[in-house]
Amino acid sequence: MGRILILAILTISCIVSCNTPKIIENNKNRVMIHTPIKYDGVESLLKLMTLDEKIGQMNQYSGFWNATGPSPKDGDAAIKYKNLRSGLVGSMLNVRGVKEIKEIQKIAVEETRLGIPLLFGFDVIHGYKTIAPIPIAESASWDMEAIKLSSKIAAKEAAASGLNWTFAPMVDISRDARWGRVMEGAGEDPYLGSKVAVARVKGFQGDDLSDPLTIAACAKHFAGYGFAEAGREYNTTVISGDILHNIVLPPFKACVDAGVATFMNGFNQLNGIPVTGHKQLQRKILKGQWGFEGVMVSDWGSIGEMKVHGFAANEKEAGLKAIIAGSDMDMESYVYEKHLKTLVKEGQVDIELINDAARRILNLKHELGLFKDPYKYCNEERESNVIGSDEILLAIRDMARKSVVLLKNENAGLPIKANKTVAVIGPLVSEKNSPLGSWRIAAKDHTAISVEEGLSQYTDIDWTFLQGVQLTTESTNFVLETKINEVDKTGIQQAVDKAKEVDQVIMVLGEHGYQSGEARSRTKLDLPGLQQELLEAVHAVNPNIVLIIMSGRPLDLSWADENIPTIVQAWQLGTESGNALADIIMGEYNPSGKLPMSFPRSVGQMPLYYNHQSTGRPTQDANPDLVFWSHYIDEKNTALYPFGHGESYTNFEYSNLKVTNTGTGFTATIDLTNTGDVAGEEVTQLYIRDVSASLARPVKELKGFEKNMLKPSESKTITFVLTDKELGFFDNEGNYHVEDGKFDIMVGGSSEKVMNVSVERKTKMLE
Ligand code: NOJ
Repeated sequence: MGRILILAILTISCIVSCNTPKIIENNKNRVMIHTPIKYDGVESLLKLMTLDEKIGQMNQYSGFWNATGPSPKDGDAAIKYKNLRSGLVGSMLNVRGVKEIKEIQKIAVEETRLGIPLLFGFDVIHGYKTIAPIPIAESASWDMEAIKLSSKIAAKEAAASGLNWTFAPMVDISRDARWGRVMEGAGEDPYLGSKVAVARVKGFQGDDLSDPLTIAACAKHFAGYGFAEAGREYNTTVISGDILHNIVLPPFKACVDAGVATFMNGFNQLNGIPVTGHKQLQRKILKGQWGFEGVMVSDWGSIGEMKVHGFAANEKEAGLKAIIAGSDMDMESYVYEKHLKTLVKEGQVDIELINDAARRILNLKHELGLFKDPYKYCNEERESNVIGSDEILLAIRDMARKSVVLLKNENAGLPIKANKTVAVIGPLVSEKNSPLGSWRIAAKDHTAISVEEGLSQYTDIDWTFLQGVQLTTESTNFVLETKINEVDKTGIQQAVDKAKEVDQVIMVLGEHGYQSGEARSRTKLDLPGLQQELLEAVHAVNPNIVLIIMSGRPLDLSWADENIPTIVQAWQLGTESGNALADIIMGEYNPSGKLPMSFPRSVGQMPLYYNHQSTGRPTQDANPDLVFWSHYIDEKNTALYPFGHGESYTNFEYSNLKVTNTGTGFTATIDLTNTGDVAGEEVTQLYIRDVSASLARPVKELKGFEKNMLKPSESKTITFVLTDKELGFFDNEGNYHVEDGKFDIMVGGSSEKVMNVSVERKTKMLE
């Protein structure tokens, strides 16, 4: 009956939207569900479905090879095909390309009883085949339109390849550069993080999910994963109510408000409860208070892992806890397919919980337009026309230029002047793989433009390109450890000899793309392998160095900061990496990026973040000789390069900060002038401090920013409006407060370089 029947039901499907909370008594558990009844067609379909078919919708398999998680076992493929044919699968991940997706979709549509099409998910994190800068790099642009465009392009390529769902954006706030996944987020700040999250969701999804060139987005990992203890991947998180509500949750809430279609929970436990089984987070906050009507998918195997966490006696109990908590779809732990039916039969799981999860999944399929045309993403012609088009490459190059942060530029080392002899040295100079990062599963290996290729286009300079030392000892990939060269020094002497002869040295050093990302935590934040030795050896003979750092996280650049006049943070910039960097090195583009994460002086400062609490003893003012203040005896407290920092080839000056009281809030204005010789863009940042509150507030909190392009000598007055939305905070229980009292309003070009005005909010006295 399948296909024809559901086509009839779903093409005449009307919208019936209602979302009434219901209390379900589940054996010992009371569960409040908010069930989004949206389309009568989906409701009719649900009535036709058997329990097995409904549970099938909640089951997601990875493709038939080992792609983004622990290997499937032998023989899995045969079982997966069998279950696909029996209608026991709702979604696949890691199947890609029109040909393969069409084949699998055909099984679901033509061979199962009801012919319900599958969702195809994939980690389209920063590009699909054409790779954009890693997300933390894009965040350094503070340019929401550019970020939105980058996600739109990623969606376009992915959708043209048959996919309809990405597991992005990752909106986890993180304060610890040891954690490898900081590359995938927007850094340490919830305000910037929320803006970036919205730009990404809107970029991926567009205005219409049924458009064949958009895909469903997924806000992940709900919640707290970025606070993994000691920055160690998959580790436990312990997070206070204050931090949870004020720092961790805001970007997720912003995604819900932007209409994100799906959420993913995660691997971590939060204060003792694995987030996959966290009922308060998923049912109460997300689906209840925030009214999220979409799908919650587990992370890879995270339902089964609740047993290993010590939160469930066996897989069956893990499944029970996951469904009660609100996990709608099981990614690759096979727990729902094995145990949900029995749990329902035994009366441990109310059928309404199953209906709710299946309904959410079917609603999404309906919104994507899959019932009307299950093959709408599978058009070979579109696939070959869209991917890697010139238009895409241009936009990605621009995104890459915008992502670069000029950390320092003493003696105007950059841009490089013509007619020079320049040695370009370092293991990343000719790299064509590492700049793609680690989440680039669909990209072809070695397809980034290298720095060598980018610079070689400038023929009026006498370039020499040398590796100096090798960074890795073996070929690298997503699933295996990256082996770093700690031994072979061949090449250092040749680099030193060349450096002696030339006017200028450019060094391209840093981490390999596969040293950050999932499962890539580090205890050191130095230049890996023999690169520091190479840097110092070259510096000893020619200190006229421009240092380009490629990395997936903030590194400790203390030695470089003391000794090298010009330093550029180039992250991993993707396919157009070398072209974008050449644009900057040669002065075709004036860098404008600002750091979305603090750069440390030492790994021992981790976690390091600008929006910290004051402590009772923040300074040594009382008596400079005494030790009794909050500090280290061997290092400063401050960042080497703070959040919001980034220089330009021109200079910007701030003046005239004025703050007026609007009754319940404030308006701040400040004048910005380009006092240098070239046009440039500046990100003006507004921070507040609520000086005395019922819950102590951080010393600074970002509450506004604006990016402006100014010509030389041009000025602009910038205005920020502060309302209850910016001035309040959540208490430990998640209740929002806006309190009267003193506020510091700070505006400037980084979190440390600000002008400050103190004002008072006095609504009570005005009443
Ligand atoms: C595990 C990662 O944590 C998650 O972010 C990703 O989307 C899934 N694997 C699927 O690859």
